[in-house]
Amino acid sequence: MNLVDATQTPAWARLSQLRDQLNVNFREWFAHDPNRVERNTYHAADLLIDMSKTYMTDEIKDALVQLAYEVHIPERYEAMIRGEHINNTEDRAVLHTALRQPPQALEEEHLVLADGQDVTADVRAVLDRIYACARSIRSGEWRGISNRRISTVVNIGIGGSDLGPVMAYEALKPYVHEGIECRFISNIDPSDIVEKLKGLNPETTLFIVASKTFTTAETMTNAKQARGWLIDGLRAHGVLSDAPEDAQAAVARHFIAVSTNLEKVAEFGINPENAFGFWSWVGGRYSVDSAVGTSLAIAIGPERFEEFLAGFRAIDEHMRTADPHHNAPLLMGLLNVFYTNFLGAATHAVLPYSQYLHRFPAYLQQLTMESNGKRVRCDGSEVTSATGEVWWGEPGTNGQHAFYQLIHQGTQLVPADFIGFANPAYPLSYDGVDQHELFLSNFLGQTKALAFGKTADEVRAEGTEEQIVSARVFPGNKPTTSIMAAALTPKVLGELIALYEHIVFVQGAVWGIDSFDQWGVELGKQEALKLTPALHADEQAMAELDASTRQLVEFYHDTRRYE
Ligand code: F6P
Repeated sequence: MNLVDATQTPAWARLSQLRDQLNVNFREWFAHDPNRVERNTYHAADLLIDMSKTYMTDEIKDALVQLAYEVHIPERYEAMIRGEHINNTEDRAVLHTALRQPPQALEEEHLVLADGQDVTADVRAVLDRIYACARSIRSGEWRGISNRRISTVVNIGIGGSDLGPVMAYEALKPYVHEGIECRFISNIDPSDIVEKLKGLNPETTLFIVASKTFTTAETMTNAKQARGWLIDGLRAHGVLSDAPEDAQAAVARHFIAVSTNLEKVAEFGINPENAFGFWSWVGGRYSVDSAVGTSLAIAIGPERFEEFLAGFRAIDEHMRTADPHHNAPLLMGLLNVFYTNFLGAATHAVLPYSQYLHRFPAYLQQLTMESNGKRVRCDGSEVTSATGEVWWGEPGTNGQHAFYQLIHQGTQLVPADFIGFANPAYPLSYDGVDQHELFLSNFLGQTKALAFGKTADEVRAEGTEEQIVSARVFPGNKPTTSIMAAALTPKVLGELIALYEHIVFVQGAVWGIDSFDQWGVELGKQEALKLTPALHADEQAMAELDASTRQLVEFYHDTRRYE
């Protein structure tokens, strides 16, 4: 498919004109256009997506849809789900959508091919093994080496092998098996593993080493530490002899691996029967619905995990089949391009009104920024416009008491997505007040205040002294998209993740970049490897340091205390 420079298209020129004419005034737009809300509300699976308080106008929507056609987004999406190597710098297919095919896909004629091989049977076969493992842990059939049932599952992984599982586990806490707790170790900072293992009993702990490559320094270091902790602990409990074969037997009962590199898994000493594979066509940040989600499948159980997958699938279907003017991920992605390239927005906030989604912004940071933080296009040429925004956020209402000030009254344009749910997991009330209603009224109040603001006259009408009127004015016209669902269920979580996966795809496709590679993380990793000897006072390595790094290393040498 030929790579079109979006900035040279007629649609881009039209969008520039529309930007120049744009005079956002939500008060007027809402007063004079009774159908604005209806025309800008989309229903995607269980999600209601209200884009009426965004800068979308009918003309902008038409021009953005035209842009989607001019840069061939529909063809590119089809190419992705057909298994073409759209990750061109790694020469790989991008098939995370194949991970959520239903069990009945096996009986259908519809094949998903990666490099000429149908992947459907492989995906379902791995899921079946994960489900069998999850069932045996949940039922207590799976026993540790001292015949005790597993009560803690510790996932060791980083980036995509951590952020998805921990986010989803936290989000779905009300669905977690009451006898199982999951913990997540990611950082190579030794304090992470020390804190996460505190209070755990090795006899009842199971580790999942999750790493696509099984070479990532953080994960392999933590996995080795965990293996040592397990064996030492079991020996201290008197349930393991000093014999190496007993240590091996303990690792076989207390370690599971998730990886595309099954050879390395075997080298580590993990029983191949306890290794769940995935494939090069699953990017790390697109892998929570693959074997990388094993900790989640154990925690919430196979039936709930299937519902989670069904959520992804419902949005995939919406993305593939909805008319472009009613296609939520397409329009949200295109609008983000408009904010970034025509209005200079450098950031995008995600503000879930659910404490359960407290890791969702962090999860989205990898999904969005590792995908679209690129400066060259698929053909190696420099991009001709700004690319990926900085994504950030915190759950409401906490964020309201921290950074919302800047969104309301600062000088930066910060488009924001608000996410809320009609039903709480725990309905609490106090003195006749439903606490969830107090909570949701903040979601509604914030989006309303951001859109409609407060004028100087309204501030004066409250009797405010003239001198501080301007400080109390809210300019309004701050763009927000409101996403609501009935409740945060496994299915709805899958829908939310897939929604953002496709938003990322759309933005990357407009910019003509490879949203599926991540070369930008490599240099720092290599430098870190080179610097370990300098920290260890190797003279040769010290001599090669630049002046700033040398100063920092010397400070380390002067102040590090060894016990
Ligand atoms: O360093 C970035 C990265 O490659 C991510 O893309 C990936 O999710 C993470 O590291 C972990 O990689 P792995 O699963 O191979 O350990």
